[in-house]
Amino acid sequence: MLDVKLFEMQSFLPDPYEDALAPRLKDAHEKLQNGTGAGAEFTGWVHLPRDYDKEEFARIQAAAKRIQANSQALVVIGIGGSYLGARGVIDCLCSPNYNLKKKSTPNVYFVGNGLSADSMQEVLDLIADVDFSVNVISKSGTTTEPAVAFRFFREALEKKYGHEEAGRRIYATTDKARGALKSLADAQGWETFVVPDEVGGRYSVLTAVGLLPIAVAGVDIEALMRGAAQMMEVCANPSYDCPAWRYAAVRYALYEAGRPIELLACYDPAFRFMSEWWKQLYGESEGKEGKGLFPASVEFTADLHSMGQYIQQGQRVMFETVVRLGASGCQLYVPRDEDDGDGLNFLAGKSMDFIRDRAMEGTLLAHTEGGVPNVIVEAGGKSAEDLGQLIYFFEYACGLSGYLLEVNPFDQPGVEAYKKNMFALLGKPGYEDRKAALEAKLAK
Ligand code: PA5
Repeated sequence: MLDVKLFEMQSFLPDPYEDALAPRLKDAHEKLQNGTGAGAEFTGWVHLPRDYDKEEFARIQAAAKRIQANSQALVVIGIGGSYLGARGVIDCLCSPNYNLKKKSTPNVYFVGNGLSADSMQEVLDLIADVDFSVNVISKSGTTTEPAVAFRFFREALEKKYGHEEAGRRIYATTDKARGALKSLADAQGWETFVVPDEVGGRYSVLTAVGLLPIAVAGVDIEALMRGAAQMMEVCANPSYDCPAWRYAAVRYALYEAGRPIELLACYDPAFRFMSEWWKQLYGESEGKEGKGLFPASVEFTADLHSMGQYIQQGQRVMFETVVRLGASGCQLYVPRDEDDGDGLNFLAGKSMDFIRDRAMEGTLLAHTEGGVPNVIVEAGGKSAEDLGQLIYFFEYACGLSGYLLEVNPFDQPGVEAYKKNMFALLGKPGYEDRKAALEAKLAK
């Protein structure tokens, strides 16, 4: 079971912060459990691992099987919360090199998460000669980046298969009733999956948003949900026995003590997109009203050779949260070399995990001594069940953290600012006044 450990924290937080925060955490916990806090209408994820729609879950599994049988590639179109969770889980459990591996499941390409013509063309080229399907994911159904990408891939499907078969290869994950994508899907007869009203984008990885692409990549989504359900049970306990309480409390106390930056670190490159998912979860949930920890991430040991200098000796404004995934899937042992020209025979016969673990311990000691507090999240393993636990743990701790900060952890009003400007500059009807004002500013 996942656990949170603190290393020499008393040298950074000498006061008994846990006792002081316990009543506030209890209050936050009750708000999450009973849906009585700010943004309560978006707390459907709290009991999702138990209450998820079983009929839809079976349809997701059936659709994944169909895609696996008739497609060599799945193009997943979505951005932000409609993208990062699926990418994080697939990279972590199936490898960041998943598409390059020999396998019986389709390649999975993620598009619509930016506005680069080069990246879009690259994927159009990659799927040109293979059978493919499309999963377009947008809760609002109106987000520009995925909507634009969908036009290109829908056209590619229709050119290759004709209108009817293209329709059988499109899977739309969107609101159950509203939005342009829902209307289009209903009019065209595409299979649809639901982003529940009460689950916001960044909390939606355990809905069809994440589950369909994850299942297509061959991950056991039942195990993923089982892990999340186990952590949901643990988090139902309103005390410091709950690892989410310990994590939320320590990061809040560190923030209050002048540490506004949290660095999420992992020693497995496969975790990179899980870190991206975590950054969105915490950044969008906490960063408002001039408050919030700034979530950043590093990949060790690679970044010890780049960011390591700053972490060791730069401004003392950060703390590290290190995710430990446990033993690697395979064990590699360093070969012996009779000549020992590189002087490495002291490592001969040692496993890569052994070397990594010593690097991890050495870094923990060095960074703590250098004035960077370390929080350790022991995930225990890298199975679908472990990752389900980890996802729910971070979500629950994020909800608690938002309420400790006294912000609404489930809205994102700031995301609209750039969109309005972009729409105005693109000439979207209804934005005429803003367009003129913005163009005048840019011309200065
Ligand atoms: O967390 C969020 O709400 C956002 O990241 C959204 O998921 C993102 O903007 C995409 O929105 P949509 O799914 O409506 O296209």
